Amino acid sequence: MTAIVSTAESRIGQRKAHHLEVCIDPDSGIETGESAFNQLHFLHRSLPEAHVDQIDSSTNFLGYNLSLPLFISCMTGGTANAREANRLLAESAEKCAIPVGLGSIRILFREEEVFDQFYIRKYAPSVPIFANIGGQQLSEIDNNQIVEMLKRLEVDAIAVHLNPGQELFQEFGDTDFTNIYDSIKKFVEQSPIPVIVKETGFGIAPDEALKLAESGVSLIDTAGSGGTNWIQVEANRQSGILSESAKAFDSWGYSTALLLVLYKEIQNDSQGFNYLASGGLRTGVDLAKSIALGAELGGMALPFIRSVSSGGVEETLELFETIKHSFKSVMLLTASKNIEALKNARLVYSEQLLQQIRAYRSALEI
Ligand SMILES: Cc1cc2nc3c(=O)[nH]c(=O)nc-3n(C[C@H](O)[C@H](O)[C@H](O)COP(=O)(O)O)c2cc1C
Repeated sequence: MTAIVSTAESRIGQRKAHHLEVCIDPDSGIETGESAFNQLHFLHRSLPEAHVDQIDSSTNFLGYNLSLPLFISCMTGGTANAREANRLLAESAEKCAIPVGLGSIRILFREEEVFDQFYIRKYAPSVPIFANIGGQQLSEIDNNQIVEMLKRLEVDAIAVHLNPGQELFQEFGDTDFTNIYDSIKKFVEQSPIPVIVKETGFGIAPDEALKLAESGVSLIDTAGSGGTNWIQVEANRQSGILSESAKAFDSWGYSTALLLVLYKEIQNDSQGFNYLASGGLRTGVDLAKSIALGAELGGMALPFIRSVSSGGVEETLELFETIKHSFKSVMLLTASKNIEALKNARLVYSEQLLQQIRAYRSALEI
């Protein structure tokens, strides 16, 4: 897939095409911060008392049977390249039996002709599909129109993204972040499908996650730091003040593993909410740690867009099999025969992580 930006594309389309170009480039330096998964260790078992064939990594999610608790995070749509990327991501998801997310559908309310790029049900008939929209758009677009669009797309859930960091570093970014919580609350009441709220790489604080869950949001997706940093993606496309100022934001946000520990503690206090893990997950081991920390599923974005871009479905299936092999190996090596058992596998935290947990609990008063 070559990254060509068509002059006929709208500003949103051009921006999306440019984002893809930057993300696919392995030298763009957009992965920053610490996911902190390396500060967690499983207890290894030398006597797991299981045959590898007994290890069952399948799980149920939104009524679908998944082969692995993994999903392809929301990414793209709205450009010529995105059409191909979405098709390849959807075909891969179908073959792997895992959910797949669409990029923001905002453009569909301005350019109806790109609907086809987002209609991926034809490539992925038997896996969950998540639509995607910005929290800011919920107050701009008539919610009835959004609901209609969700029906036409035949999706199973909608992920609402929060991205104040990114907008601040985007030329012509939308910098009004007022009333987003109320818009989400209103939309949840009307949505016929589960609403997921996600960040885009800086994480959702536990107190904000709780507040969102209380408003009826079905799932919180951490989308924490340690993976794709959207301030740096925008900085790659700018020069001058925005790009210079972005240099100080390499380690901004909440590490994904730290958030998962904090979410799990809240869950243990029985105030719980359901959550997904994403942001810097790169291996089956990261995924297994996320599940042991209470996430229903773990998501990856950058690794999948890079694999479909460089080697299509074939390379993506290889990536998936690698993740699956590591994940199932962790299951065996922790004597976890199924996902329920893995949820109870114990993790040891590094001293540094323990200190951070204490500091954040006190600062967030949780
Ligand atoms: C090419 C690309 C496009 C993305 N577009 C969107 C988007 O439209 N909406 C959204 O919510 N997140 C978007 N994201 C963010 C991802 O869903 C994810 O939250 C973030 O990249 C962190 O995951 P990662 O570290 O696995 O990449 C995009 C990510 C990539 C790499």
